[in-house]
Amino acid sequence: MTTVENGSGAPALKGKRALVTGGSRGIGAAVVRQLLDAGAEVLATARSTAYTAPEGAAFVTADIRTEAGTQALAAAVRERLGGVDILVHNAGGARADEGASAMAISAGEWQDALDLNLMAAVRLNSLLVPAMRERGSGAIVHISTAALLPPVPAFAHYQASKAGLESYSRALAAELAPFGIRVNALGPGRTSTPGGEETRKRWARDDEASAATNTPPIGRDGQPDDIADAVLFLVSDRASWLTGAYLSVDGGEFPRN
Ligand SMILES: NC(=O)c1ccc[n+]([C@@H]2O[C@H](COP(=O)([O-])OP(=O)(O)OC[C@H]3O[C@@H](n4cnc5c(N)ncnc54)[C@H](OP(=O)(O)O)[C@@H]3O)[C@@H](O)[C@H]2O)c1
Repeated sequence: MTTVENGSGAPALKGKRALVTGGSRGIGAAVVRQLLDAGAEVLATARSTAYTAPEGAAFVTADIRTEAGTQALAAAVRERLGGVDILVHNAGGARADEGASAMAISAGEWQDALDLNLMAAVRLNSLLVPAMRERGSGAIVHISTAALLPPVPAFAHYQASKAGLESYSRALAAELAPFGIRVNALGPGRTSTPGGEETRKRWARDDEASAATNTPPIGRDGQPDDIADAVLFLVSDRASWLTGAYLSVDGGEFPRN
């Protein structure tokens, strides 16, 4: 992989401290690697204990669905990095039983989806952004999904929580822009990751035909680095006039307008 450089030849994110949630595999792991390549100091987090972070990155185990989990993570961030300049809210997903319907999603599944896909970002931002605001700079990326608009009854809780995340992201961007903090949302399309493959296998059992014809118009599924490339752009100074935006990175599969 090529090193990302700024105009003077130095790594573009040298001196920046970054937190990546869900950094142990899939899209998050690619974001961690690319941030390291760009010279950032990186802390990754996930629930798994059996994960070895790439050389140069720190790793903290946390379940960010709870208030206690996000507080422990924020404390670890302060202890290990002293604070953050870049926050990538990537951990996400939702359980859905085979053949489930929107009406059958239990209250517990709804709460889980909201806690992981929306409230984890809200809670972590409330703990970590005040220091960013005092410093007068920062970049936040909320990972949503490109597949927000086509109705998928079994994933109503997932889509609703990601819709909330995008709406929150826009509001936060407006509030934090005067403090030099940029906030953007990014929606991956079909990306080859453990979580993405597992979800699509469940959808395929429900609807073989549409799953088979769902190759994005660009002719292939995405790779984690396709998404990480776009995240790196959003957190870099090349995007210094970009805030409150939503970016689909989906091979053209889910046009929003
Ligand atoms: N892949 C796709 O096709 C696709 C499409 C649209 C949107 N997205 C979004 O992109 C993001 C990344 O997706 P992915 O496919 O890379 O997912 P993935 O392969 O399932 O990886 C998810 C990551 O999040 C961590 N995680 C899950 N629950 C957590 C929790 N409660 N607390 C802390 N960490 C947790 C996982 O580690 P542990 O399990 O060890 O905690 C793992 O590191 C998600 O927000 C997803 O909704 C993905």
